[in-house]
Amino acid sequence: MPDETLTIRDNRTGTEVEIPISDGTIHATDLRQLGLMSYDPAFLNTASTRSGITYIDGDAGILRYRGYPIEQLAEHASFLETAWLLFEGELPTREQLEAWEEDVRLHTYVHTNVTQFLDGFRHDAHPMGMLLRAVAALSTFYPDAKEIGDVESRRLQRVRLMAKFPTIAAWVFRHSRGLPYVFPRNDLDYIGNFVNMTFEIGGRHEPNPVLQRALEILLVLHADHEQNASTNAVRGVGSTQVDPFSAVSAGIAALYGPLHGSANEAVLRMLDEIGTVERVPELIEAVKAGHGRLMGFGHRVYKSYDPRAKLIKRVADDVFAQTGLNPKLEIALELERIALEDEYFVSRKLYPNVDFYSGLIYQAMGYPTDYFTVLFALGRLPGWLAQWEEMLSDPEQKIARPRQVYTGYDEGEFVPLAQRG
Ligand code: CMC
Repeated sequence: MPDETLTIRDNRTGTEVEIPISDGTIHATDLRQLGLMSYDPAFLNTASTRSGITYIDGDAGILRYRGYPIEQLAEHASFLETAWLLFEGELPTREQLEAWEEDVRLHTYVHTNVTQFLDGFRHDAHPMGMLLRAVAALSTFYPDAKEIGDVESRRLQRVRLMAKFPTIAAWVFRHSRGLPYVFPRNDLDYIGNFVNMTFEIGGRHEPNPVLQRALEILLVLHADHEQNASTNAVRGVGSTQVDPFSAVSAGIAALYGPLHGSANEAVLRMLDEIGTVERVPELIEAVKAGHGRLMGFGHRVYKSYDPRAKLIKRVADDVFAQTGLNPKLEIALELERIALEDEYFVSRKLYPNVDFYSGLIYQAMGYPTDYFTVLFALGRLPGWLAQWEEMLSDPEQKIARPRQVYTGYDEGEFVPLAQRG
C-alpha cells in the first residue's frame, strides 16, 4: 500500500476499505471492493487517462504543451514545429523539422475521387459536414491504416492526415464558393499552401505574411487542449482499434457542436443579432434570465481568463491593422466589459474562452462564418493524433466502455400487438 491512502467506511454494512491515492486520484475500480461504482455524468470529476501531452491549470490560466508555455510557442513556434512537439514530446532540431516539413509536403495530394464526393454535396452544405465525411473517406483509400499496432504505419497515417487535411479543408471552402479546386503547391510552406488553395483565383493570390502568421498562431493556440470533448471522442472511438481516419472524423463530429468548436461560429451569429453596442445590456439580461448562453464565454476547466483568449486579442490587433477594424469587435469588447463586471458571470467564473475573439479574426481574413470550425479542426488535428498515439501506447487503456445506472422498467411480459389497448 502506498503512503497516501483513503479509508472508506460503508455505513450500510460497517465495512471499511483502505484504497491507494496516487497523483491526487483514486481508482474507480477500487470501489468494487464495496460493490460500488462511481457515477460521474459528463466526466465532471473523472480522469479518463494519464497523459504527458498538455498541462492546464484552470484556476491560474496556465496552458503548456509538453511543458512549454503556450505564450512562448505562440510567439516562436511554427504550426508544424508545434505538431512535432506534441507527437514526439520534444522540440525538433533543425534537421528533424526540415525532414518533417518535407515529409508532410510529399503527402499533400489527395486522390481526386475526393473531389467527386465533394461535388455530391449541395452548394450550401455545412463545411464541417463535408470535412468530416471527406476525412472519414480517406480510410477507404488507405486500408493499411488499419495496421494500428505497427508503429511505422501509425507514423505514416499521421503524416498523411497532417498533409491532406489542409487540402481537403481548402477544397471544402472551394466547393462552398462554387470555385474550381486548387491543387497543392509544394513550393509553398504549410500555411502558405493552405491559404493559396483556399483563396487563389485565376492562378493568382498575393500572400499577406502578417495574416498568414496570424493564422499560424491561431492554429498553434488550438493544437491541443488535453481531454476536451473532441479529443475524448477520438480516444473513445480509437480505443476500438479502428483506423485513425475514422477516429479523427469522430473528433471532427464532436468539434462540430456549438458547445465545443462551433462556438466560434455561434459567437459571430450572436454579435450579428445584437447588431449595435447599445443592445449589449439587453442580451446580457436575456442570458441571465435563462434565454440562451453568452457564446464564447465559460469553460469546463478554465475558471479564470483563458490564456488563449488573451493571446488571440493580441493577434486581433495585428490582423485588424491590415484589414481594418471589424465593426463587431466593438460589440464584443462591450460584451466582455459588462460580463466581467456582472455578478452573474463573476460568481460563476465565466470568462471569454478561445472562441470569443477567434471568429472576428477569421472573418477579417475572409473566411465565412460557417467555415470557422474547419479552421479549429485544422488546428486541433495534431492534438487528436498525439492523444490517439498516447492512448494506443498506454498499457492501462482498453476499449472505452462506460457503465450505467439502469433506471428503466423491471422485467415485463411481451404483449402481442393485437392485445395492446
Ligand atoms: N453563458 C451564460 N451562462 C453560462 C455560460 C455561458 N456561456 N456557461 C456556463 N454558464 C452558467 C450555467 O448556466 C451554469 O449556471 P447555474 O450554475 O446557475 O446552472 C454555470 O454557468 C455552470 O455551467 P455548466 O454548463 O455547468 O458548465 P460546463 O462546464 O458544463 O460548460 C461550457 C462549459 C463551455 C459548455 C459552457 O460554459 C458553455 O456552454 N459556454 C458557451 C459555449 C462556448 O463558448 N463553448 C466553447 C468552449 S471553449 C472551446 C471549445 O471547447 O471549443
